[in-house]
Amino acid sequence: MSSIVIVGSQWGDEGKGKITDFLARTADVIVRYQGGNNAGHTVVVGDQEYKLHLIPSGILYKEKTCVIGNGVVIDPEILINELDYLKQRGVETKNLQISGGAHLIFPYHKLMDAAEEDKKGNNKIGTTRRGIGPAYMDKAARIGIRLIDLLDKDVFEEMLTRNLLEKNHLLEKVYEIPPLSKEEILTSYLEYAEKIRSYLSDTSLFIHNAIKDDKKVLFEGAQGTLLDIDFGTYPYVTSSHPIAGGACIGAGVGPTKIDRVIGVAKAYTTRVGSGPFPAELMDETGQYIREKGHEYGTTTGRPRRCGWFDAVILRYAVRLSGLDSIAFTKIDVLSGLKKIKICNGYRYRGEVLTEFPQTLKVLGECEPIYEEMDGWNEDITGITSFDDLPKNAQDYLNRIMELTGVNVSIISVGSERGQTIVIDRFV
Ligand code: GDP
Ligand code: IMO
Ligand code: MG
Repeated sequence: MSSIVIVGSQWGDEGKGKITDFLARTADVIVRYQGGNNAGHTVVVGDQEYKLHLIPSGILYKEKTCVIGNGVVIDPEILINELDYLKQRGVETKNLQISGGAHLIFPYHKLMDAAEEDKKGNNKIGTTRRGIGPAYMDKAARIGIRLIDLLDKDVFEEMLTRNLLEKNHLLEKVYEIPPLSKEEILTSYLEYAEKIRSYLSDTSLFIHNAIKDDKKVLFEGAQGTLLDIDFGTYPYVTSSHPIAGGACIGAGVGPTKIDRVIGVAKAYTTRVGSGPFPAELMDETGQYIREKGHEYGTTTGRPRRCGWFDAVILRYAVRLSGLDSIAFTKIDVLSGLKKIKICNGYRYRGEVLTEFPQTLKVLGECEPIYEEMDGWNEDITGITSFDDLPKNAQDYLNRIMELTGVNVSIISVGSERGQTIVIDRFV
């Protein structure tokens, strides 16, 4: 198996960073393919914690190559800060390659993201306000500025001048925000260009050759299935394709080159931002999970909404990304709960739905149908094999496999790299 796509199966923050770092030990190339610094991926090695937003979670292995693909939107200031942060912590970054086709985030994107959110009031999406949506809007409108454009001063200045004319008009007339100075953006972005230039490469070709040479390539998704712009809970979604298909487009590889897809799923469900969430817990159990699981955003620090595991969502993720197996994370957080529930269907106006509904209106009216299982009390954070897990935790995992129709190949029982159980028969 040479190429594996890792995707978020729920609403993001499933532990993709941890699983990517864990699997990266046997990989050669690790690729981010979509999203931007709306992502916050945490990797813990020993007593060291690393928060990554743009750079793939394979960066801690100095001999591996990390790639930021064309499908990612890059805020160059954030990228440079992240490179500096890693260097300061002794992490080597010279093996990073960045696609010239990746689109850039500009200050006007961030202002417009925030202004749109404020304008929406109670209907706001709850974006990270990092300019992600407006940057992808420019890409789709074919006026976006790519990294390759930034590296040519004349091309860049011409594109920026043209864009800023329109953006400043919008800022002033629609959002009532003072216009931005072209000179300031030009100066700072040309400085960024010099710091980034050496990382530029034809990343699609690089990945193609790596696969041809039998190298192992990991594709690290950001966000999650229900934040996908086509298949998520639109409009409460991000502006890219976190599902496995996004890896092909965002990295420039053909679908026949992908060998396996692993969905990362938390033992419960969380969501940051607005939108319906049928299995959400508004009670003390939700609060218990939030505190025990430290469910506060890596990127924005916002409290994450918490709820029970939802098998309807997982079956949807299995379908959309063709999941071969699940990496099941944070099961340790459930230790100590007397009863654990799994949502396995929705009640909608008297009808039972077992597949994820297509409209938000229907989803908003869905009541969760739960089955209940006995919990366990033991601390499982030091357990290293499936067979050593408490019987009730094993039953919980077996039931998840039955309900989703796919095997759990990896169980994560803590944030540290080593707190990971591989179920060999399912790998
Ligand atoms: P990502 O965006 O999918 O990479 O996930 P985040 O890093 O935003 O959030 C996952 C959080 O859970 C991070 O703080 C991880 O360190 C932590 N984490 C990951 N796996 C486990 C686990 O199995 N148990 C516990 N207790 N924490 C975990
Ligand atoms: P990782 O990769 C969780 C959510 C935001 C908001 C919606 C749109 O760490 O799992 P955006 O800024 O993308 O336009 O916001 O998407 N969101 C995430 N939620 N994890 C993420 O990334 C997210 N990235 C975006 O909260 O609801
Ligand atoms: Mg995250």
